[in-house]
Amino acid sequence: MAKRLMVTGCGGFVAGGIVHQSDKHWELHALTRGAPLLEKDNVVWHSFDLLDTAELRRVFREVAPDAVIHAAAAADIDFCQANRELAERVNTGVARELADLCGAAGAKLVSMSTDNVYDGEKGRYTEVDPTSPINWYGETKVMAEQAVSAMDAGWVVVRVSLVMGLPMLGAGNSFLSRMLPVLERGETLGVPDMEIRSPLDIVTAARALLELADNDYSGYLQLAGNDILNRFEMVRRLAVELGYPAERVEPKDPVNIPDRAPRPRDASLCNDKAKRVLKTPMRGLGDGLALILATQKEGPA
Ligand SMILES: NC(=O)c1ccc[n+]([C@@H]2O[C@H](COP(=O)([O-])OP(=O)(O)OC[C@H]3O[C@@H](n4cnc5c(N)ncnc54)[C@H](OP(=O)(O)O)[C@@H]3O)[C@@H](O)[C@H]2O)c1
Repeated sequence: MAKRLMVTGCGGFVAGGIVHQSDKHWELHALTRGAPLLEKDNVVWHSFDLLDTAELRRVFREVAPDAVIHAAAAADIDFCQANRELAERVNTGVARELADLCGAAGAKLVSMSTDNVYDGEKGRYTEVDPTSPINWYGETKVMAEQAVSAMDAGWVVVRVSLVMGLPMLGAGNSFLSRMLPVLERGETLGVPDMEIRSPLDIVTAARALLELADNDYSGYLQLAGNDILNRFEMVRRLAVELGYPAERVEPKDPVNIPDRAPRPRDASLCNDKAKRVLKTPMRGLGDGLALILATQKEGPA
């Protein structure tokens, strides 16, 4: 019999990838505030706002999941900086509620966190490095991590690096889908060159999260790509791989971007532990892009 998996934030970028990549091994319950996005035999949609705690508890009881992947978040760093109370309710409050529900029911909780829990002074962070966020988004995620890691067992806090790809369902927080229309219009793209990241493709991220929902691993784990590079280099390489001229991507000083919350300078993550724990291979930028393009051609799993 299929195991029951609940996934939050399915109108978003990462959870959309999870729905897309899930197969019949799972009876997947997709939670969203919006309308169902994909008809698939193994997927049941539930439309409501996660801030409606009574409804979240009711749906959780009805579904009785074996595992939950919590991907819903206020994931826009600048939005969180400007809307602190709402960001805390969404990012910390919902994680806390899910930790309580999963803990009481014995369901596994795989909760998504971020490279923004680090201050960016060191880089190549490992799971044991202390957190020290420099923006409110990172603060809300550290508080969520604390709630999840207080569970007795059956929890994973997944610190994810910048995720690259196009949304596989709906829309979402994808830098590639913001950059492509600019390049298609023939305009030049300005990208910060002092922010170092370890980008991971959406397909690998989704498969790794599904694997974590199914295996016995409990604890902190970082998901990151094999290449460490600054955002400008990353976008320029992606643009070239997609057939655009390199000079159409230019370095840009982020102080010239209005209302931009502070970002960690070097938030690159070490993925050694993920390589030991997971069967899903971590990939570099080129391999990741090739996988995204091939998966889009193939369609949903
Ligand atoms: N994208 C990245 O590069 C990246 C990097 C590191 C970590 N992360 C983390 O990965 C997770 C997924 O991020 P993502 O990139 O998929 O973000 P996203 O595209 O913005 O999706 C997040 C989803 O969360 C739900 N959500 C947002 N605000 C909400 C609210 N007020 N109430 C209830 N639900 C709300 C929405 O789902 P519905 O529309 O279905 O309601 C939204 O689509 C997040 O925890 C994020 O912090 C992402």
